[in-house]
This record gives sequence, C-alpha cells and structure tokens, in this order.
Amino acid sequence: MIIYYEYYKAGKRMLKFKNGDLYIEDVKFSNIAKEFGTAVYVYSKNQIIKNYDAYKSVFSKNEGLICFACKTNSNAGVLKILSALGAGADTTSGGEIYRCLKAGFDPSKIVYAGVGKTSQEIEYALKSKILMFNVESIEELDAIDKIAGKLKVKAKIAFRVNPDVDPDTHSHIVTGKKGSKFGIAYEDAISAYMYAKKKKNIVISGVHSHIGSQILDAAPFALAAKKIKKIVDEIEKNGVKIEYVNSGGGLGVKYEKSQKALFPKQIADVIFPLYKDKKFIFEPGRSIIANAGHLLCKVVYRKTSGGKSFLITDAGMNDLIRPAFYEAYHEIIAVKRNKAKKVKTDVVGPICESSDFMGKDRMLPILKQDALLLVTCAGAYGAAMSSQYNSRPLLPEVLVEGRKVSLIRKRAGYEDLILNEA
Ligand code: LLP
Repeated sequence: MIIYYEYYKAGKRMLKFKNGDLYIEDVKFSNIAKEFGTAVYVYSKNQIIKNYDAYKSVFSKNEGLICFACKTNSNAGVLKILSALGAGADTTSGGEIYRCLKAGFDPSKIVYAGVGKTSQEIEYALKSKILMFNVESIEELDAIDKIAGKLKVKAKIAFRVNPDVDPDTHSHIVTGKKGSKFGIAYEDAISAYMYAKKKKNIVISGVHSHIGSQILDAAPFALAAKKIKKIVDEIEKNGVKIEYVNSGGGLGVKYEKSQKALFPKQIADVIFPLYKDKKFIFEPGRSIIANAGHLLCKVVYRKTSGGKSFLITDAGMNDLIRPAFYEAYHEIIAVKRNKAKKVKTDVVGPICESSDFMGKDRMLPILKQDALLLVTCAGAYGAAMSSQYNSRPLLPEVLVEGRKVSLIRKRAGYEDLILNEA
C-alpha cells in the first residue's frame, strides 16, 4: 500500500483514494487537471495547518516563535495562511522580507539569516523593523552596526553559531559542520559576542544555529543544543543577556517508506529542558509544507529504450529540481487506481539533460498516454526552486481546502519569458 494512503488513514495527510480516484482533501486531482491543466503544484491548506499546529503544541505558554522558513515555499497564498495562523518568518533576502510583509507577517516576528546580506538589504530590513538579524560574520556585524547608526536605530542580532555537528543528511544540505560557509565558527562565538557587546548600534538578543535539512534523528539537535548552551552560559557570565534561543529548522519528513519523520516535540524535548528563562524560536520549512504540496503532471509519451520503460511527463527538472540536485526521492503515484501489471519505469521530463527525472526504477502500472501522475511531497523546495530553464514558463499553483480550490499563482505564459528583456 502506498505510504500516502496509510498516512491519510492515520489522519496525518490529506490524500486518499475514493472509487479509484486520488483526492486531495475533497477534490479529485483529475478535476484539478481539467480546470488548470498540467503540470501544476497543488497544496492542501489543512495539511499546512496541521503541520503548523504540531509546532504550536510544543509551546505550553506564549514563550516562543515559529518562524516559517519561507525559502521552502514563498507563494503569497501559502504565506498568508501562515501569517494568519500567527507564524513568524525566517527570511534569507530582502525579497523574502518583502514577500512576507506583503503577506501580512508582523515584522516583529521576522528573522533574517544569510551569509551575504547586502547593505541595501540590511537597510531595508532595519527600515522594516524586523525582529532580528541572524548574523553570520564579523564583517556583516560591522555593516549592520554602521547602517543602523546611519538610520539612528538599534539593530537586534543573534549570531548564527556553527556548532560543528554532523546532521547525517545529504552533503548539499549540511550547514552546521566545521568548514561550512554558514555562521560563526564555534571556537570564535564567544569573542564575537564580546565584540558585538561593544557596538553602539547593536542589541544582542539571541543565539542561532541551523545544522542542516531533512534530518531524521533528534541526536544531532541534542548535541548542537548542548554545545550552544555552553556558549550561552559563557557569554551570560560575561554580562551578555540572551533572550532568544533559535534552533533553526531541519526536521526531516517521510519521503519514503523506510523513513520516519522527526516531530517538533522530539526537538523541543532535547532543547527546552536546558534553559529556564529563554524564549525559543524554530525555523521550520520542509516540515510545514513538504507533505502539503504535490506536483501533478501528465504522461506525454511512453517509450522503451535499452530494455527500460520510460514515462515522459510534462513536468521537468526546471519545475522540481530536487531529484536531479540532491538525488531526492519523491513517491510517484498514478492518480487513477490501476490494476495493470507494474513495470520498472523511469519517470522523466522533457528537458535536455540526463539528470531530468522525477524518479528512476519505479514500479508503476503500465499507463496510457495522458495518464495523470502525482509526484508527492513536493511542497518544500519545489515551486520555490523552479526555474524557466529550457524556456519553460513557471507552473501554476493551486490551494485546496475541503471542496474549495483557489488558484494562488496563475500559469505563466510565453510572454512572461521575455518580459524583462531588451
Ligand atoms: N533556517 C535556516 C537558516 C536555513 O538555512 C534553512 C534551510 C531552514 C531554516 C529551513 O530548513 P528546513 O526546516 O526546511 O529543513 N533545497 C534543499 C534544502 C535547503 C535547506 C536550506 N536551508 C532541499 O530541497 O532539500
């Protein structure tokens, strides 16, 4: 049985088969394809709310902030759901701050990380009155101090400390190991805080770490938390008060059967007991939106070559780059229940690259031309990382809530491809 169906039955996901048709909430995928065409990203609003609630429930009082890492999915329709739930936002660029403000996020709940914040971005963030900067180098701190001085404001900061912990995930998404470009080296963290303490326009507010993404084990979080606690103890002895402990994001989701998702409570359990008087920030991205979004596509052609079966779809690596980029696995389901014999199949896209595939060696029923396929669990880093490569217009995005279907991004056209070109 497919894992999505199992999950739906457990009440955790919003996909189900009814009379042979796959539904998201109360809407048939085949009807979405009819109305909006394919390929198309489809999200479940109730799944987003459920995932957010799992974070909310770890706070007993109003002692923390859930800052949605909007790099995972920055569609305005998605962001508006989260801002309405009271979420904050974790941003990585001026553009993300702009999107979040437009989507109604309270600026006092926005944090801003990133190793290369430009002076324009810093100025924009200060003028927008965000909660704090997660500072990744001393030169960046100097720049923030200078710009805050010019604007006659104080800038709240946390240092992003690299705790040198191996999160045991794909090498492209490890961030908290020695030698990574992210954050302040662990051994330099205390002196960085002592340096920041002397800056006139800087207010030290917190400590931040983010060790990586798609992490399925709580142990690296526990190790990182202990190492960060040592820094907090040491700097507080030296007269620096830390108000916020920000543990980043990184909680892994279940992409395949053999995996077990990591839940917010497992992380809270290893961090909260370390402190008596702190506010906590989490920056979840994937664990809020991955299993709420799916890429619906259509079989354009079928062929066999070199003894292999291929399904060629209208979604390509420009629409979902994760399989090509991270060798990521996304379960692929035929949207109509199908009793046909299953054969080993490569599901590939139309792009001129050998790495353009959604899945390789998948056991899928023999499908007809125009059959619909769902590339599941693609809500995080799917649409957000898509591009127009091969001059393919960006896909539409649709939000489902019960029986209600809303278009939250319209399909781009050929004219959009050349819009800003001379
Ligand atoms: N906070 C910071 C500072 C981050 O850099 C990230 C993600 C997050 C929070 C959210 O992490 P999450 O909860 O989503 O794991 N494109 C890759 C993942 C890149 C992660 C980048 N940083 C992928 O598709 O797997």
